[in-house]
Amino acid sequence: MDFLAGIMEEFKSKIKTNDTNKGKVSAVCPSNIALIKYWGKREVQLPMNPSLSFTLTESHTRTDLKFKPKSDNDIQLKVFFDGDRKPDFEPKIHSFFERIEVFLPFLKDFEFEIHTQNTFPHSSGIASSASGMGALALCLTEIENILGANLSESERLKKASFLARLGSGSACRSIYQGITVWGKTDLIEGSSDLFALSYPYEIHETFHNFRDTVVLIEEGQKQVSSTVGHDLMKNHPYAERRFVSAIENLEKLIEVLKTGDLETFGTIVEHEALSLHAMMMTSQPYFILMKPETLKLIETLWNFRKDSLVPLFFTLDAGANVHLLYPEAYDSRVEEFLNTNCSPFRMIHDRVSI
Ligand code: DP6
Repeated sequence: MDFLAGIMEEFKSKIKTNDTNKGKVSAVCPSNIALIKYWGKREVQLPMNPSLSFTLTESHTRTDLKFKPKSDNDIQLKVFFDGDRKPDFEPKIHSFFERIEVFLPFLKDFEFEIHTQNTFPHSSGIASSASGMGALALCLTEIENILGANLSESERLKKASFLARLGSGSACRSIYQGITVWGKTDLIEGSSDLFALSYPYEIHETFHNFRDTVVLIEEGQKQVSSTVGHDLMKNHPYAERRFVSAIENLEKLIEVLKTGDLETFGTIVEHEALSLHAMMMTSQPYFILMKPETLKLIETLWNFRKDSLVPLFFTLDAGANVHLLYPEAYDSRVEEFLNTNCSPFRMIHDRVSI
């Protein structure tokens, strides 16, 4: 059996359907913020480099998935967001179901109603695809178990991560709490391109209860979708170097997570964020996703850190918003900084719990 066929076997459903049950399952899945960025992928949804993220605790999606048997042989689903039917969201979920049907053959035996809501505002710039696809994958594996698959909890999470990845790459990391890694690398035992896992090594107490305060400099639809962004890494003049740099940064971060060296943590994380943006600025076509306010906030943060010695760092997603990262112990010092420098912007106060 070749490698891919072996994998396909592992994740193929062992159940036989013919089930006449209808029912409802529910799942909650958080969003995540990458410290080592996934940027660049190959078919189908396999990362070009390993990534590592903090799973957040406050920003999450809740999904209720209703299912009832039907007789025809196609995929049928309806999507509701905050109680309202959203036909616009349906083609994406439909394609996702088509893609994963080989691993969950019961998808054609039922019609589905997907009811979903987020704890964070829709236009806030927090990516809902990670938490949304994660919650949906968790619901689907629960149905699989109801239908008799008998997956243990760890098998179920692994399969949910595998399925979520096929919906949105970064979603596979949201299945696990705390620190998560995705992407095959010799640096992390058990790592895979196909699913994420909980970070398996020592984490210094400095990183327990870290904060992520998201400063919403720009709200609304992303200027460049992740799909387009990943695609720009194909034929990118600096792509190969970037993929190596992510691995180098991961290697350093593993050491830092063990020792609690916050200064080096900041150097790695900020370098990753700016590398992501550097890739966007040097692709064809090129984009600047930061706004003047993004740069101003970064500069202010650097000055504040230098003067106050407060370990306050930033990371960025593929957009203008700034994620402020700091240990909980510095809450009140950072609050001063937020009041003075970020008050015109809406903020989301989140954290990672380890
Ligand atoms: C910048 O996971 O949204 O947030 O796999 O195409 O759905 P698709 O992309 P997506 O990309 C996330 C990119 C990023 C970095 C990261 O989360 O690692």
